[in-house]
Amino acid sequence: MDKTRTAISLSIGADRPGARINPAMWGIFFEDINFGADGGLYAELVKNRSFEFPEPLTGWSKISPSHARGQLSIRQDDPFAPANPNYLRIESRAAAPLGVANEGFRGMGVRQGEAYQFSAQIRNVSGSPALRIALYSARGHLLDSVQLQGFSADWKKYTTVLNPQNTDAHATLYVLVEGSGVVDIDMVSLFPEHTWRNRAGGLRADMVQLLADMKPGFLRFPGGCIVEGSELAYRYQWKNTIGPLENRQLVINRWNYEFLHRPAPDYYQSFGLGFFEFFQLCEDLATQPLPIINCGMACQFNSCELVPLDQLGPYVQDALDLIEFANGPADSTWGQVRAEMGHPEPFNMNMIGVGNEQWGPQYVERYKVFAAAIKARYPEMQLVAATGSDATIFPNGKAEIEYLWSQWRALGPEIVDEHFYRNPEWFAENANLYDAFDRNGPRVFVGEYAAQSVGVASPDNRNNWQTAISEAAFMTGLERNADLVVMSCYAPLFGHVDAWQWTPDMIWCDNLRVYGTPNYYVQKAFSINRGDVVLPVQLAGGQTDSQPGFFASATRDESAGEIILKVVNTGAEPVTAALRIDGASQLKSTGLAMTLSGGLADENSLDEPRKVAPVSATVSGVKPEFSYTFKPHSLTVLRLGETA
Ligand code: AHR
Repeated sequence: MDKTRTAISLSIGADRPGARINPAMWGIFFEDINFGADGGLYAELVKNRSFEFPEPLTGWSKISPSHARGQLSIRQDDPFAPANPNYLRIESRAAAPLGVANEGFRGMGVRQGEAYQFSAQIRNVSGSPALRIALYSARGHLLDSVQLQGFSADWKKYTTVLNPQNTDAHATLYVLVEGSGVVDIDMVSLFPEHTWRNRAGGLRADMVQLLADMKPGFLRFPGGCIVEGSELAYRYQWKNTIGPLENRQLVINRWNYEFLHRPAPDYYQSFGLGFFEFFQLCEDLATQPLPIINCGMACQFNSCELVPLDQLGPYVQDALDLIEFANGPADSTWGQVRAEMGHPEPFNMNMIGVGNEQWGPQYVERYKVFAAAIKARYPEMQLVAATGSDATIFPNGKAEIEYLWSQWRALGPEIVDEHFYRNPEWFAENANLYDAFDRNGPRVFVGEYAAQSVGVASPDNRNNWQTAISEAAFMTGLERNADLVVMSCYAPLFGHVDAWQWTPDMIWCDNLRVYGTPNYYVQKAFSINRGDVVLPVQLAGGQTDSQPGFFASATRDESAGEIILKVVNTGAEPVTAALRIDGASQLKSTGLAMTLSGGLADENSLDEPRKVAPVSATVSGVKPEFSYTFKPHSLTVLRLGETA
């Protein structure tokens, strides 16, 4: 029996263009969660390189064969960097090697054929010992080894290169004193030479590439709850994340202890990926920076600590200084810091979020102080305010959100950030969420969302096709309402398969590999097929009992001269729709279809990274009225060329 149904007709008003679409419509949310920065995007392989974790030898183990004599100690006297005072002293009193091994972030991923730059600050204290730098595989095979010697009596940086003989995802780095003598070491680092744009001390190229492929409109940074800190002392302070690495002070990562069921006691923020690197990445990706700053409130899911209103000054100053760091002339105080880091030109930031998931009158009071100060100095800066968290997961969520919207309508931030962590059914059912939304007020930023297959942040959540296709249905609603919804992003971004705290996540990695989930391919499909202007779509016969899920949106890409139609069929049957393009200028007879489809339970994985991935095909017979069959459980993007 042919199960294809033809009950649906879909018309596109090509002659009735609507709202212009914000070029920053589809973006990226970055947070250091799930080892997203340290152990993930930031390509450093050594964990706790400066011995500053509260247990200074976390990540390190003593290597001391029975014929070795000597000891290890953590010291602070006459340090290399007073901001990070701890260093390791290795005192060896025998010829046998003595030292330490670093386990990396759940191991170190190294590749045969690639070079790895070892560096450390080293000071010779007595004798003239050498240092053996070696990489071993998880099974204990030597991958490479070099000797460093001739150290000065003052702190000095020494470097060498390791070339592993084999590829290993869980290698270990050894640093051993050979010969008797005493040396001090600090800032021990091992970096792949191949990084994104081959920057020394840079980012994992394979992970950035997936982001670049999305052509994101903006990059939100640094989160997420990490902005707030569980207590104010642990909030994200951008000034601690710039300048020489040895001056960036470590902070415990809030996801270290947030979930009892997923503890990560070795999770700290080294800030090797800090605010300069964030702006630089935005520039690389040609995307707009969207920093989110702490507004004088710690996380309201944790301590709820508040900065008294009359003590907000330094917090507000941090926000103003951040804008100057990004945009100020190279001879301004903070612009000069940026210039000294190698970027005299401004980064052209034009929006800033005040607070992440904050709610209640205390938030509004603090927002007002920030808004007044920022607008007084930078009237062009667009402000992003929040509506707390997902209404279902914070106290009195619905009432709080209504309260905040009433405040924002009066106070007038340009953009308001909404978060949705719901089940897949909710996303499909709410594709019309913004259809009748009050347009008299700020624009909407759907700043965190992801379908949760089991429950919010449940460890059993899956990045399966069902979650992705439901998000796609929802996104057609965002696109249709692009006059109101000006930005959106999936959250969280990264998950490390051996070190995650929160799932689902858009992109997963291990120490060597990375893959995009079906949710990633949905985000990418919308982003790379954005278009410049919304075209109205009319569906008839779509929402029947047997075929409840058929969703569509359309745009025009003016420079390409193409109509872009996105159709989501969440039903289990193929649907042949009668398409009508009203008022199109001459249509090319062939177009392009990009289809994502699969079983609802289908997932991608490290071993099968493209089980759900886009398939492209030519569409023939395109005319003002033609029919097209949409696969079951599919997202289809049709690009139809106009000739005049
Ligand atoms: O995306 C994960 C977390 O969810 C974010 O840090 C927070 O803003 C939200 O509660």
